[in-house]
Amino acid sequence: MQFPGDQGLTDDFQAMSLRVAEIIASQLRAKPASCLGLPTGRTPLGCYQILSGWSESGQLDWSKVKCFALDEYLDSDDSRSFGTYLQDNLYRHTNLPPESRFNPRFVDDYDALIAASGGLDLAVVGIGRNGHIAFNEPGTPRQSWTHSAWLTDSTRAANAAWFGSIETVPRIAVTMGIATLLSSAEIVLIASGEHKRGILTRASSGPASAGLPASFLWEHSSLRVFTDFQFAGKPG
Ligand code: GLP
Repeated sequence: MQFPGDQGLTDDFQAMSLRVAEIIASQLRAKPASCLGLPTGRTPLGCYQILSGWSESGQLDWSKVKCFALDEYLDSDDSRSFGTYLQDNLYRHTNLPPESRFNPRFVDDYDALIAASGGLDLAVVGIGRNGHIAFNEPGTPRQSWTHSAWLTDSTRAANAAWFGSIETVPRIAVTMGIATLLSSAEIVLIASGEHKRGILTRASSGPASAGLPASFLWEHSSLRVFTDFQFAGKPG
């Protein structure tokens, strides 16, 4: 599943993608049995492309890694699922064992599984225009673990390009909670496009509140932020 249309391959997008790919590669080299939380969307596509290239040329070993998709639609056919996205854009280019590709739709207790796997070492997180992270929409409390969630109209509109029209965008999803994400040892937040500047600025300015879920990320002691636009908040 490729993103339909412009992939935003500006120099800045490439630079952001390379820095995040380097962080993930360093993580795998430092700890071959790392647990990663991985996002979908347009923003990580460049990073996944770079990681795929390094993996295909044998520079990265995923044999002991466990990957946890941050979220998944519940009422989508398989071809549009985030599982398929991760499979197409990353997993199939790596030697990540199929049994190490986790998806919250198919796990009864995702948080227990993550904990039993040693906890997330690194969660890479995108941000929605309304400040959502994974599918934690505005109103989601900090003490939220993996749960199902109704998608807002703005989130559905933002994801319409993947489905052709907003009518066919799913309405319900399952997502790691904010507490799940904050339990990760490290968090990398990525944002691409000027249209994300306003929400990112608000999220980084505080105070953290459920009205803007991404704002909780600034409570984490090891958050790094990467953008493809000039951003004066906490640097990467
Ligand atoms: C989606 C996903 C998020 C993603 C966000 C931003 O709805 N559930 O995990 O980070 O929206 O997506 P994009 O990178 O396409 O802007």
